[in-house]
Amino acid sequence: MAKKKNLIDFTGMKKKGEQVTWITAYDFPTASFAVAAGLDMILVGDSLGMVVLGYSGTNPVTMEDCISHCQAVKRGAPNTWIVGDMPFGSYQASDEDAVRNACRFLKEAQTDCVKLEGGVRVQSRIKAIADAGIPVIGHIGLTPQSSGQLGGFKAQGRTVANARALIADALAVQNAGAYSILIEAVPPEVTAFLCGLLTIPVYSIGAGPADGQLIICGDMLGMFQAFTPKFVKKYANVAEVEIDAMKHYVEDVRGKVFPSDEYVYHISDPVEDFEKLFREYTK
Ligand code: KIV
Repeated sequence: MAKKKNLIDFTGMKKKGEQVTWITAYDFPTASFAVAAGLDMILVGDSLGMVVLGYSGTNPVTMEDCISHCQAVKRGAPNTWIVGDMPFGSYQASDEDAVRNACRFLKEAQTDCVKLEGGVRVQSRIKAIADAGIPVIGHIGLTPQSSGQLGGFKAQGRTVANARALIADALAVQNAGAYSILIEAVPPEVTAFLCGLLTIPVYSIGAGPADGQLIICGDMLGMFQAFTPKFVKKYANVAEVEIDAMKHYVEDVRGKVFPSDEYVYHISDPVEDFEKLFREYTK
């Protein structure tokens, strides 16, 4: 079994120029597939609201949803660094809420760290969580929980003014004590600058090359059908495979082809004894 990587390994990997690979997962099978594929890290993102639960955004996702899915992922990947994503409402109101809910991830689901969205405005939340001894990852750029304020799921940092705000956010996250930062949907020029400016690892989702890459499993596997962001590379079309398999099943059942002999359990007592049994009910 490969050694479980931790934040010291991840920080060392930045220094050595080695890429960190992470993916989202929300359930036991996907987590175990991520282990088999050799992923370094798994994010149980609140994207589960869109990818798995069918909401149009992430804000309805609750702490209970996140804990339950983190527990399933932990069972599938007990030896992988798991990031619990703090859902909308779990840290917005106060530092106390942030610490209490971050603790829940570690106590109830044994995640290794938590991630939360925002830069300057959540600086005190990050500091409070880090001061509680919990590894924390910042998330800036396109932050889905505040997509209403951003005018939708829109790329960030494309103008100088916006990039300046992003740099301030990145520095705030680092100074508050996050051990790494995720940047979403930002031009590669800005990401490259941040990778050089920050001492903590900088990870990208839709933000070009960085110290590592995150991708959403539902996007890369072709399972999430509502829309595909520009930055997603599809590595499979699982939806097509599943629909095709289900269509064949429907055909087989309607055509009485399934279940054939190979898919049934056979009797273990002599057939005559069964005939006698059946006669008892039909005479
Ligand atoms: O919830 C999630 O999967 C995320 C990614 C979009 C970065 O936060």
